[in-house]
Amino acid sequence: MPDRVFVTRRLPGPALARLAESVTVDLWPEDLPPPPEVLRERASAAAGLLSLLTDRIDAVVLDAARWLRVVSNMATGCDNIDLVAATARGIPVGHTPGILTETTADLAFALLLAGARRVVEGDRFVRDGRWRTWDPSALLGEDVHGATLGLVGFGAIGQAMARRAQGFEMRVLYSRRSVTPAPLGLSATPVPLDTLLRESDFVSLHVPLTAETRHLIGARELALMKPRSLLVNTARGAVVDQQALVEALRSGRPGAAALDVMTVEPIDPHDPLLTLPNVIVTPHIGSASRATRERMAMLAVENLLAGLAGQRLPHCANPEVYGSG
Ligand code: DGY
Repeated sequence: MPDRVFVTRRLPGPALARLAESVTVDLWPEDLPPPPEVLRERASAAAGLLSLLTDRIDAVVLDAARWLRVVSNMATGCDNIDLVAATARGIPVGHTPGILTETTADLAFALLLAGARRVVEGDRFVRDGRWRTWDPSALLGEDVHGATLGLVGFGAIGQAMARRAQGFEMRVLYSRRSVTPAPLGLSATPVPLDTLLRESDFVSLHVPLTAETRHLIGARELALMKPRSLLVNTARGAVVDQQALVEALRSGRPGAAALDVMTVEPIDPHDPLLTLPNVIVTPHIGSASRATRERMAMLAVENLLAGLAGQRLPHCANPEVYGSG
């Protein structure tokens, strides 16, 4: 009998058809994620689980899933999964790094440009019927070319941002935990986080969410930013203390924020953040290009099938599950 896998949402492209060639697919058909009790119940009969970042896979789910041999998350970040609990139970967890690097950097740079040049405000201005003439003082923004970009985190996406910034002749600073120099050909200077916050016109976050990075950017850090600076977040919402950000934006330091990720997703439409004119919010679409999402889905299927076949996952988020061998 073929293995049974639970897939928590419909996926773009041919990935599900590919999966169905080899296993019995139990597909959650709704637009919203399966509620926790449904996830537990459906996982309990599954040998594999294909999850999204909206599915909380914790010890309770893993214990309910007696036959489970592999979890495959269609995301790079796995902060929705208790990796320690999965490793303790011998379950490899797949993820989809690499594929979304350039696509996410594209969105981060788009948010940077849109925030700097007040593109979203401009669109609202026109639609609201407020465009009466060419006004020399209306909707003045900040220049991107020649400005200083601070990258918090300098992994693949941070470096992809630095490459884009070079085309705009920006000065690039970065902070990262290890003090490794920028790769050859990239002109970027490592600095401590506080220096980066003080000197940058644009600060863009590119760190995973971990115990160390939760609220990495809080009231103290926001107060260090320049009055007209812009904070861009395409990483994870909880890297920023969102309440502190609302206060900081009200006081004008930083001057604006462009955010693709929230502490709680989706954000409540009545959240005070959404009342501020100097904020752009997009609904976690960093990787949302057709090609990238289809490739992420396919890689998630490849990870899943490898796990079911007892092979090492092509991209494993908890390689320690394999021991040192
Ligand atoms: C990820 O993969 O971690 C992204 O946030 C989803 O695009």
